[in-house]
Amino acid sequence: MLGIFALAGAGYAGTMLLGITDPITLNPGYQPEQPVPFSHKIHAGELKMDCRYCHVNVDKGAMATIPPTATCINCHSPLGADGVAKYSAVHASSEKLRAVHESWESQESVPWVKIHRLPDFVFFNHSAHVNRGVSCVSCHGRIDTMEKVYQDKPLSMAWCIECHSNPDASIRPVEYITKLDWEPPEGKTREEIGAELREQLGIHPKTNCAVCHR
Ligand code: HEC
Ligand code: HEC
Ligand code: HEC
Ligand code: HEC
Ligand code: HEC
Repeated sequence: MLGIFALAGAGYAGTMLLGITDPITLNPGYQPEQPVPFSHKIHAGELKMDCRYCHVNVDKGAMATIPPTATCINCHSPLGADGVAKYSAVHASSEKLRAVHESWESQESVPWVKIHRLPDFVFFNHSAHVNRGVSCVSCHGRIDTMEKVYQDKPLSMAWCIECHSNPDASIRPVEYITKLDWEPPEGKTREEIGAELREQLGIHPKTNCAVCHR
């Protein structure tokens, strides 16, 4: 009997070890090649475009969404046969924009490679976070300085629960959620501001299993 238990125990430990080292989520640094060399450093950093111009659903629902080609075409319209662009034509004949222009013509989406991915058994919702003052930077790092996006945080269960247990340092006024370099005003710490907002708005992230596993 003891032998069987020992074997089952080892099997269980082995499975858990495989599970928790599952590379799908626990891989900070994952930085796949994208079909277009799109730079957040240029668009969100230097041009100061708000994240919500492209990730339109991030404060409305579960998914942030990747922008459709039409969003890029607002500024990167291809030149027509007459050599004139329909909309703004920044870098209209750039080789780097070829896949965008092809997608616009064929009406097939650009095949962006997904970077952050939770297992299907985890429930996650963007709007529940950003509308409570949790900034993108807490979970994605300084995207506005990234030439090419990579996963900055582990997205593990322990990581989620760490913040849910002690969220004060990660709560800021909602108007600054997309200002990734936000600093608290002189004389106050992040924790103090977070604690005030948490009291005022009754923010109380939960840690019971059913919150994330429904
Ligand atoms: C001009 C449009 C645009 C703006 C503005 C923009 N993004 Fe993106 N974002 C994209 C596109 C296109 C992708 C997919 C390609 C890639 O990963 O680079 C993407 C990908 C991402 C991803 C990775 C998604 C995945 O696959 O897991 C994150 C996270 C992200 N953006 C966050 C932000 C944040 C935070 C801001 C604001 C600081 C921002 N983005 C501003 C267009 C934009
Ligand atoms: C609000 C206008 C605007 C939107 C919308 C926009 N861009 Fe841009 N993009 C620019 C500007 C301006 C530059 C040039 C910056 C520079 O050269 O310094 C640029 C540069 C680029 C470049 C580099 C081109 C080169 O040859 O150097 C790529 C690639 C690019 N954008 C892709 C995209 C994609 C993909 C989208 C949609 C997800 C997008 N852009 C949406 C304004 C925009
Ligand atoms: C509390 C952590 C957290 C915050 C805050 C957060 N994200 Fe995410 N984001 C995630 C996780 C986790 C995923 C992967 C979701 C999945 O696989 O279901 C993700 C995925 C994404 C994606 C890929 C598309 C999608 O919806 O799955 C984009 C784009 C994105 N986030 C942009 C943003 C932007 C922009 C902000 C700020 C306005 C933001 N995120 C704030 C954790 C966060
Ligand atoms: C940086 C802090 C932070 C991180 C990291 C974080 N959360 Fe949250 N989460 C919050 C806050 C703050 C709330 C809002 C609680 C409230 O409204 O009372 C919240 C709310 C939620 C809710 C809604 C709960 C409800 O009451 O309905 C879910 C679900 C959730 N988080 C899941 C996750 C998952 C899954 C992860 C990891 C992938 C995660 N969170 C990571 C801070 C965080
Ligand atoms: C704040 C969100 C959150 C809460 C609360 C939470 N989990 Fe999780 N859980 C996650 C995430 C995210 C993952 C996926 C991590 C990964 O990809 O490795 C996960 C994974 C798991 C797994 C799979 C383990 C693995 O390594 O694959 C089990 C089992 C689990 N959770 C059980 C629980 C139990 C039991 C509770 C209550 C005590 C709980 N979870 C509470 C977010 C949460």
